[in-house]
Formats: sequence, C-alpha cells, structure tokens
Amino acid sequence: MNRNLSIELVRVTEAAALAAGRWLGKGKKDEVDEAATQGMRDMFNTIDMKGTVVIGEGEMDEAPMLYIGEELGTGAGPEVDIAVDPLEGTNIVAAGTSNSLATIAVAERGNLLHAPDMYMEKIAVGPEAAGKIDINASVIENLTAVAKAKNKKIEDIVVAILDRKRHEKIIREIRESGARIKLIQDGDVAAAIHTAFENTGVDILLGSGGAPEGVLAATALKCLGGEFQGKLLPQTEEERIRCKKMGIEDVNRVLKMEDIVKGEDAFFVATAVTDGELLKGVHYKGNTGTTHSIVMRAGTGTIRFIEGQHSLKRKIQA
Ligand code: FBP
Repeated sequence: MNRNLSIELVRVTEAAALAAGRWLGKGKKDEVDEAATQGMRDMFNTIDMKGTVVIGEGEMDEAPMLYIGEELGTGAGPEVDIAVDPLEGTNIVAAGTSNSLATIAVAERGNLLHAPDMYMEKIAVGPEAAGKIDINASVIENLTAVAKAKNKKIEDIVVAILDRKRHEKIIREIRESGARIKLIQDGDVAAAIHTAFENTGVDILLGSGGAPEGVLAATALKCLGGEFQGKLLPQTEEERIRCKKMGIEDVNRVLKMEDIVKGEDAFFVATAVTDGELLKGVHYKGNTGTTHSIVMRAGTGTIRFIEGQHSLKRKIQA
C-alpha cells in the first residue's frame, strides 16, 4: 500500500469528526451518526484507491452510506479492505462525554476479518504486555501476567471495561484480584488504544463489545506493537449462521491479531470527536475547527499525532 494513503485517510476522519462535533451534548444519537457518516463518505471518494467496505454502517439494504460491500475511492490506486466506524461512541457525543472517535482501518484486499455485527469477547494490551495474555486464561492469570510484564504490582494495574450488567462476574473477579477498574460507558476502541500509552492510565482492556469495533482495535494494536485477542459471541442460531456465512466456521476459535488483520501492513486512523485521555476532541472558534488525530502504520510502526486547523468558511477542495 502507498504510505501516503494513511495521510489521505486522516482527511476522512477529520471530516467526520468536524461534522459530528457540532452535535456535542445535544442528545441526538442518530443525527450525530448521520453527520459523521456523511462527512466521511464525501471525503473518501476523493482518495485514489479501490476500496471495499468490509465493516461499515450495515448491510446494503439497511444503510444508505458506507454499507458493507460499498466501493469507495476514485477507483485508481491500491485495492484495499476498509473498516469504518464514522462515530465510535454515538452516545458519548450525544451526552458530551469522553473518548469518542471517528475511525478507519485499512489493509490490502482480503486482509481484514469480515466480522459480523455481534458481540466479541476481547482482551487488549500495549507493547509491554504483548505475548503475555491469553483470552482463555482466568482474569487473575491475565492480570498477574500484565503486572509482571509492566513491572507493576497487581494493585497498580487499571482495567478498562464497559459498564454493563453482562460484566458483573468479571468485574467482581478484577476487584478480587486487587486490580483497579475504569468503568467506561462506551468506546472500547479508544480504551484498547489507551493500553498502549502509559499516560492514559489504562493497562488492559477486558470484557465484550462489538465485533466490528474489535477489528478496528486489533488493527490499532497491531500498529502499536500491542496485542489483541477476540472470541465471537453469537447469541442466537441466526448469529451462528451469520458467522459461518462470513467464513468463520468455529465460533469458539480464538481470533488472534494475525487472524483479524492479516499481512504485514495496515493503517489505522482516528480523529477524536470529544476530548479524551489521548486526543483532544474537536474545538470550534469562529471560523476555525481544530482536530486531533492519530495515524498509524503497522508495516513501519510509525505513529503520528496530527493537529489540524480547519477553515470552516472555505469550501473543502478535493
Ligand atoms: P456505537 O458508537 O456504535 O454506539 O458503539 C459504542 C460501543 O460502546 C462500542 O465501543 C462497544 O464495542 C459497543 O458499543 C458495546 O456495545 P453495547 O452498548 O451493546 O454493550
């Protein structure tokens, strides 16, 4: 893949974030999502690539834009798989809280897992604890391993986990281990990324969330040198059939990073919509919108933080 593609992609997440940021705290989930999706789609089509959405806003009949199978880009350039979440954390923006992102992951054609829209059990850590975790091990075993790898006491470890009833048992086990917890309302992609940055205060992500978000998080951690493991959690027979249709025969199989994002290279790009531990959200003043993005490439391990100052008066040019 052409390395310039990653820089082109940041324009796409910036456009989504600038559109979504206007809805901060307005309580309008659908409008936020639509604004981000529209912003992303318009900008995508200016990029030289032959992209196919493998993770998007839904199937063709249920999503007008960025649906699975939609072709994106000018048609000239590399053939790539695209996973998009124009707004990871619609509730976050609607409520005006932290860590919502406009995100994209891109890999060569055929290299991204076509994860069905269902739950996935997840475990994610940053580079120091990569190679030390096992989704099939107990909570205490994983936390002990992470503490050892990071040269910390277990009491010093912070686990990010979605604040959901389904996580009652695992939260109890974390508390029994002595580790500390950061309960998050939404946004497990941001939480997975946070494990790779000491200053965010998050050491490990546990619990289940969306499988599509799992693909985005796995791509980010591949770029960051961390580790992500997932297990699909189909809840119904229909979901089990969907897994098979998407080529996932054994739903109990542990999906390691190389199963989710194949190949050497991949890009992950995110622009913050609301303020978070790693990135500032969109701020507006007069005719200027300021954005903060992270751009990463797996092949080289380069991580870039990009601040953008956008004129809101001038028309966006392709
Ligand atoms: P959306 O932006 O699509 O609403 O996703 C937010 C999110 O919190 C994800 O980060 C997470 O993977 C998933 O929802 C968890 O799902 P649920 O709210 O059903 O527990």
